[in-house]
Amino acid sequence: VNLSFDIDHIWRPFTQMAHHHAGILPLVKIKKAKGIYLYDEKNRPIIDGNSSWWTCNIGHCHPKVVSAIQYQAERLDHVMFAGFTHEPAQNLTQRLMKLTPPTLEHVFYSDDGSTSVECALKLATQFWHNSGEPQRKSFITLSRAYHGDTVGAMSLGSTDEFHGPFDPLKFKTIQLNLPCYDLPTETHHPDEDAFLENFQKELIKNKETLAGLFLEPLILGAGGMIFYPPRLLSQIVQLAKQHDVLVIFDEVMTGFGRTGKCFSLNHIEEAPDILCLSKGITGGTLPLAATLVSKSIASAFLESGFRHQKTFFHGHSYTANPIACAASTAAIDVLMSENLISPKNELIHMKWLSYFQNSTLPLSNARFLGHIFAITVTLNPKFPEPFSYVMLKLALERGALIRPIGNMVYLMPPLCISEAELDTLFGILDECLNSYFKSFRS
Ligand SMILES: Cc1ncc(COP(=O)(O)O)c(C=O)c1O
Repeated sequence: VNLSFDIDHIWRPFTQMAHHHAGILPLVKIKKAKGIYLYDEKNRPIIDGNSSWWTCNIGHCHPKVVSAIQYQAERLDHVMFAGFTHEPAQNLTQRLMKLTPPTLEHVFYSDDGSTSVECALKLATQFWHNSGEPQRKSFITLSRAYHGDTVGAMSLGSTDEFHGPFDPLKFKTIQLNLPCYDLPTETHHPDEDAFLENFQKELIKNKETLAGLFLEPLILGAGGMIFYPPRLLSQIVQLAKQHDVLVIFDEVMTGFGRTGKCFSLNHIEEAPDILCLSKGITGGTLPLAATLVSKSIASAFLESGFRHQKTFFHGHSYTANPIACAASTAAIDVLMSENLISPKNELIHMKWLSYFQNSTLPLSNARFLGHIFAITVTLNPKFPEPFSYVMLKLALERGALIRPIGNMVYLMPPLCISEAELDTLFGILDECLNSYFKSFRS
């Protein structure tokens, strides 16, 4: 099948298809993948600089995950999960409970990041309903948050450039503006006290109606890799808990090692009431998500007799798919046994941080946390072609997948990348930025 058939008939996510038709945006056929590399039709290696949309944390086609998938596919492909169970779901649940705070004792499985967030949203809403406080149904969120593309997840987010046309479908939330930190470790920001004061005011003002607080903890990903420090996260969680508001962490992006610890929640003492996981959960092999909740929340859904007033009426056909669960258990075991989480490339990150901070190019706010590095680029509005397209093409020519979001360029390769490979990836990024600015100067 040729590429023009593909472009004519297969719709791409987040893509203006006319740009493919016009040839402005390349469509690259990938034949295979191994470790940190994707291979195109000519067998050219391409470093997966964004872990294929942040999913592939342990490297592509890890043999242990591949054989777990093969083993499971030969035994049980799928069974409906209401009234039935299987070992892969039990094994995975044990792993997740071991990795997360002891208070999160119940796991609800779904299919992707957005569905894990929808589950969290509905669980939090119904929790208050079942507890006799149905008026508690509003949520506090962060400006620039991104929680996914389903209607509930879009409502909780505030990335209008993605979701503007869907405004009529979205429900309102109370949005907080985080202070702008230069570095994730910044000690104290002048706007921090005002931020916390405002947050507290909202908690008090809306105490009758608030259900929960949704956070992307430590890093707002798709909203621009906006970092904020663990100290502030911890203060936010404490305040919410003091005011009896459910705290929901969306760790779809940050989970499974990205921040240098298994989860963002491992950077603080407090635990959320609800935790959303997906992406790296299967090492990037199969779609799966989990929403973990505390016992006190789960207990509010129990009732005796034959009525169904408290039942959580939510589910997906592929809930806890056995092959995906087996892949996830194997991927988590690889993540742990190969000790991939604690960053071993800190020196390379530090070297390039200082390099980009001292660059004469119009770059700002170079920053990193754990395995995520980002820079903000001042774009020339007169340059017609989107920055992300130019960078994507320049990087592909040089053997890497780098796909900026707006004017924010970031690197988030699989955690198994070696120092030398990471250095090469940074070198490619540097060449691409230089080439981009050279082209618009001439
Ligand atoms: C923090 C966060 N939540 C939710 C999602 C949605 O995940 P999915 O694309 O798997 O639906 C994303 C996706 O990037 C995300 O970064």
